[in-house]
Amino acid sequence: MTPDPVLGGPIGTLTAAARERLPAEVFHYAAGGAGDEATVLRNVQHLDAFRLVPRVMRDVSVIDTSTEVVGGSLAAPLLVAPMGMQRLYDEGAEAGTARAAAELGIGFCLSLFANCSPEQVAGAAPGQVRWRQMYLTKDHRLNEELVRQAGAAGFDAIVCTVDLPVMAERFRDAGNTFQTFDNEVAQAWSPALVREPFFKELLGLWREERPEATAQQFIDHVFPHPGCGWDDLERLIGSSPLPVIVKGVLHPDDAARAVGVGAAAVVVSNHGGSQHDRSVGAIDALPAVAEAVDGAVPVYFDSGVRSGTHAAIALALGADAVLVGRPVLWGLAVHGPDGVRAMLEHMTKGLRDTMAFVGARTVSDLRKATVRSEPGPS
Ligand code: FNR
Repeated sequence: MTPDPVLGGPIGTLTAAARERLPAEVFHYAAGGAGDEATVLRNVQHLDAFRLVPRVMRDVSVIDTSTEVVGGSLAAPLLVAPMGMQRLYDEGAEAGTARAAAELGIGFCLSLFANCSPEQVAGAAPGQVRWRQMYLTKDHRLNEELVRQAGAAGFDAIVCTVDLPVMAERFRDAGNTFQTFDNEVAQAWSPALVREPFFKELLGLWREERPEATAQQFIDHVFPHPGCGWDDLERLIGSSPLPVIVKGVLHPDDAARAVGVGAAAVVVSNHGGSQHDRSVGAIDALPAVAEAVDGAVPVYFDSGVRSGTHAAIALALGADAVLVGRPVLWGLAVHGPDGVRAMLEHMTKGLRDTMAFVGARTVSDLRKATVRSEPGPS
């Protein structure tokens, strides 16, 4: 079958198609980042600056992309990154995305700020490796309740995102009130979106014991939690029946500390540049983190992955699997869950082809491939 030129073509074509399809505010909310967006750009450019050294004559007639991650086996070392409010892109929202990934044996991570509940996602894609993302709030009861709900819905792991002490200044969002969801554009685009804060699920849980509380009181007393520290993470891990993966680590000492408090894995990520501008490029941080962790737990990677070759580079630099962010949203915007599946299929094919060129028959072969940084025009 001839690949779809949009969903199976270069990422620029897919991004342009999503941009055409989405209301401007929705596109800019997803595509944009913090500050001058230097980190959004750097993530991709620095992945582009790496080159794999081909190896020849290695019999690559059979290539096996399967791998194990926390929670089970995947057909390819790819998972969908946690991204909130997916009903902005398609009515099927997270349940549709999860199902599309599951059809390819790819994992899924559900954002705390999702439009679908953990039960809806579990129902849409039974048997899939699924992780539930959360943030640590100031309210321990709430944190433990989120973990309990994920376990009850059959999720395999918690992903605790630790790189958001404060909310970033995002210029593209200025005048765009997604933060409160009290937004005419969002309503017109997708009437199913509720006129409530984007953290409505979390707010609802917190309000169970204080029904009169306002959203502002929630922001003041619960989330975000800039005072959060390693003790809070250790407490969560200690009370969680599910393994806890720590997302948003860039410094090797932080990675070692996360392992020390019991993390089941770490995710090297700068949130796709959407929160802290002028952060190191995530790919630049990966080798030192992998070295510091030294196989004690798996190291996963996201931020800037736009192709199967990018995923292969991350694996060759020490990642055990890769989370895919914005390209999933573009696939969802262009053609719903089918668009997500086609984009992920294309990415998996790119990964498989790259494995053939570097003579890697398995994911563990790929992790030994030679990769070099060659800064300059790509
Ligand atoms: C995100 N990301 C994110 N991360 C997280 O831990 N919880 C969340 O709710 C969200 N929400 C979210 C929304 C949108 C629109 C984007 C683009 C990103 C960050 C996400 O998990 C991942 O780290 C980045 O998207 C990876 O970067 P790229 O590949 O999108 O550039």
